[in-house]
Amino acid sequence: MTATNDRGEPWWKTAVIYQVYVRSFADSDGDGIGDLDGLRGRLDYLQRLGVGAIWLTPVQRSPQDDYGYDVSDYQDIDPLFGTLAGFDALVADLHDRGMRLIMDLVVNHTSDEHPWFVESRSSIASPKRDWYWWRPPRPGRHAGEPGAEPNNWGSVFSGSAWELDAASGEYYLHLFSRKQPDLNWEHPAVRRAVHAMMRWWLDRGVDGFRMDCINMISKDPALPDGPDGGRRGAFGDFGPHVIGGPRLHELVREMHAEVFEGRDGILALGETPGVTLDEARLLTDPARDELDMVFQFEHVELDHGAGKWDPRPIHLADLKASMGRWQAGLADAGWNSLYWGNHDQPRAVSRFGDDGIHRERSAKVLAAIQLLLRGTPFIFQGEELGMTNAPFAQVADFRDVEALNHYATATAAGEDPGVVLAALRRVGRDNARTPMHWDTTPNAGFTTGEPWIAVNPNHLGINAAAALADPDSVFHWYRRLIALRREEPAVVGGDVTLLLPHDERVVAFTRTLGTVELLVLASWSADVAAPPIPDAGGWAAAELLLSSCPRPADHDGPLDLHAWETRVYRRRVP
Ligand code: NOJ
Repeated sequence: MTATNDRGEPWWKTAVIYQVYVRSFADSDGDGIGDLDGLRGRLDYLQRLGVGAIWLTPVQRSPQDDYGYDVSDYQDIDPLFGTLAGFDALVADLHDRGMRLIMDLVVNHTSDEHPWFVESRSSIASPKRDWYWWRPPRPGRHAGEPGAEPNNWGSVFSGSAWELDAASGEYYLHLFSRKQPDLNWEHPAVRRAVHAMMRWWLDRGVDGFRMDCINMISKDPALPDGPDGGRRGAFGDFGPHVIGGPRLHELVREMHAEVFEGRDGILALGETPGVTLDEARLLTDPARDELDMVFQFEHVELDHGAGKWDPRPIHLADLKASMGRWQAGLADAGWNSLYWGNHDQPRAVSRFGDDGIHRERSAKVLAAIQLLLRGTPFIFQGEELGMTNAPFAQVADFRDVEALNHYATATAAGEDPGVVLAALRRVGRDNARTPMHWDTTPNAGFTTGEPWIAVNPNHLGINAAAALADPDSVFHWYRRLIALRREEPAVVGGDVTLLLPHDERVVAFTRTLGTVELLVLASWSADVAAPPIPDAGGWAAAELLLSSCPRPADHDGPLDLHAWETRVYRRRVP
């Protein structure tokens, strides 16, 4: 495998990356939890789709409080998922197929069961005490009494971001669950240990890292109170003192020098909640030796009201404005990632499309936009089948610590349980985490045992076996688009021009490289649409590369679209 193609582009600019949420992908041993051998058995499927790499959600040893985002041993595989030998075999299998593997790297925090934290907690005098953020109660307050926490920060997973350790009378910081204490990146020994661990995985053959909330590793060491009244409910927002913190660029550059320098073709991808466009440009400008790309969150927060649990409708014009800003903002320096969903978001077709009668067509609209814009597309498992949100009936159906904590906190604070449950069903992360639909056998072919979370009953109609057999399926649409990205240089390198920015029913953009021009035209509505595209007549005469409806709309203009129809045209320009 070469690190660059014959146009000199790094592999990750041309590849499509597929996210495997291992726990829910394929179970080889019948314990109801997906594993590495299960994944190895499904590589033909991924190769058929045409993806160039997979991003594996965390498989390191973990108590699974946040399903692997709480690591207790960075250099071993959790027995739930397999062994190191099985991991090596997976890497070898992927490389044999010309595919790559990206590891999840969770180093903003560890598990509270990690030996580093166990040692840190053991005594105030421990040499590892300062590997984490320990603070005494607020001056004048007694440990444990309400308001005695060292500052007002709220955790992402509800409640205070501080947990009292009764033995020492001090609190430790956890921006996520209380089982995920934050590492103190101010301490050089922490950084050295993380860098060594990263090199160890690269020496094992992995092709890069997706770095979990990497823009939160540099905290203002004074840990000042955050603003009240934001998305952390009764607590203050840590964001201004944590996100894009004071030493972020320095720490990421140091990591680059210590870990990536001198190694070819390794992808450094940062998950960066709350990142601004300016910050993303700095982080991904190749001249700065920091990261190759980031996951930004703007488009997946457009439906947030007073936080994520207060969902609002999405307006297409807002989505296009966001898309346009990021496409333009990273056009000259830096690079975009492109995603609609992942294991932290509801299912894309349920959120942005229409998961009723237009499910397949609207899934195809999302695919075309994502795969034909500028940036590296990330497909979340099952998106290529048009998998939908799950019909969770009651709180007991949910598994995610974020959802369960929110339910407990919100209902204890007097919110209507029915309303809280409705929000969980709409935006809860478990929607994306139900098992992959392979076929119509029991449990959708995911496991022979009892799945750790219920399989969506709609797998009888939506599954890989059916999709592979149907040439018009969402799967084959993704496959064709992925092939187009490989074959048509304008998709990777072409300029992007967004058309009709204010139209609430149509997405349209062109990609131009040299003499080639592509037009992507998609309906974002259940009605027939007549998009006023400049030079519609010219485009109607161009080569129609892809169309999700067999016949043109029964209407007046040559580019009129059916409900949720997608078309892709190509032409030569002088
Ligand atoms: C982002 C991960 O994607 C999410 O699943 C996790 O809960 C948090 N970071 C904390 O690690």
